Amino acid sequence: MASYSFPDDFTWGVATASYQIEGAVAEDGRKPSVWDTFSATPGRVLNGDTGESACEHYHRYKADIALMAQLGIKHYRFSIAWPRIVPTGIGPVNEAGLDFYKRLVDCLQEHGITPHATLFHWDSPQALEDRFGSWQSREMAHAYADYVSAVVSRLGDRITHWMTINEISCFTHMGYAVDQIPVHAPGTTVKTLKEVWQTSHHAILAHGLGCQAIRAASPGPCSVALVDNFTTTVPLIESSEHIAAAQKAFGSLMSNGGIIFPVLTGAYNPDLLEKLGANAPDIQDGDLENIHQPLDAIGLNIYFGSYVQASDNQQGYEVLDFPAGYPRMHMPWLHIVPESIYWSIRHISETLGRPDLPVFITENGCAAQDELRPDGTVMDSDRIMYLRQHLKSSQRAISEGYPLKGYFLWTFMDNFEWAWGYDRRFGIIYTDYPTQARIPKASYHWYSECIRQNRVV
Ligand code: FCB
Repeated sequence: MASYSFPDDFTWGVATASYQIEGAVAEDGRKPSVWDTFSATPGRVLNGDTGESACEHYHRYKADIALMAQLGIKHYRFSIAWPRIVPTGIGPVNEAGLDFYKRLVDCLQEHGITPHATLFHWDSPQALEDRFGSWQSREMAHAYADYVSAVVSRLGDRITHWMTINEISCFTHMGYAVDQIPVHAPGTTVKTLKEVWQTSHHAILAHGLGCQAIRAASPGPCSVALVDNFTTTVPLIESSEHIAAAQKAFGSLMSNGGIIFPVLTGAYNPDLLEKLGANAPDIQDGDLENIHQPLDAIGLNIYFGSYVQASDNQQGYEVLDFPAGYPRMHMPWLHIVPESIYWSIRHISETLGRPDLPVFITENGCAAQDELRPDGTVMDSDRIMYLRQHLKSSQRAISEGYPLKGYFLWTFMDNFEWAWGYDRRFGIIYTDYPTQARIPKASYHWYSECIRQNRVV
């Protein structure tokens, strides 16, 4: 067998998100999202960039899909913009907004590409921020479930792979902050940590109610998943004591214990609750049952990890800081820890006790300091290095029997990278924003060859 090869039915794809690529923010009835407001607020996004035009994918989707087909992917993960479908958040459904996704999906299917739709990738309607402060209110979870019913009942004939919500921590724990301005929309400053945890509690509840809504509205069998970005604890040394330390550390690191734990096990992690004390969120009767829904798969967005070693301190482990010279890609947080893919999958099986749950890497990729060369090419050998190591780590998980079913590279083309605007490029296609030309980078050709040979090349 060829080295680093993948199973024949392995899902190879790329991922994008609506606000980052679509543009056309005021077309066909779409109303503002919190990201339109946030990016229009001076000082929030680098260089004052906004998603107003982004990659103009709303109008250029046909040419973009042709490039996907050329790349050789058979699966595409994209997100649906809530403010296109229910522009005021709660209320009438905008059929013109749905029509865009019908056209998109039909075009994908003409090219033999299966759609995987994320129902929420951070662009919530501004109207709900004005009405009740978005995720600060429990009403947000119900509004979300109603929006999900509207989408799935209309698009369920064309889409059978659904992902409820993308990276809950990023629009809750990074969208609300205590006594400081948060880096993500809606950008609300709050007084206590409890208020922040309450927002993520409402979001996991939205996930649970969303799962129920999808299954009720789907006209046929479908697959339902959450997309999470827990922080992966990686044993510094793969020995039993350090592995045990990484597993112990997993539940109380960042927001892991309050998102992936209740979603997959039906309970918040006890170490986390103890650590939070009075800052733990209020949990109503029945919430945990609603949150802990049966899933067909879990999607993991993995970019980096945290090294952990065993320690004789009270908690039994130490989460290690990165030394100053540790290699990283073009983001302050993007330390290169390829083993994080393998360990993220193993944590699902062992730490969370869900060995049979199919796993998809729904995002993995990196920003690099890409330059368009005089001959019109982009030689991103650094991105290829990063991706190659992460694919090898994915393949390792499969070779050891863990149920990794697919990999979606982040991202298809350079796009609006949230608070970093257009300054950071994660694409395997270079977007020349002034002309909107798409220029496949060296990594596009490399990924295409991996897909063609079904192995890491
Ligand atoms: C993830 C987001 C995605 C993109 C990448 C770089 O956190 O889901 O939209 O910005 O990071």
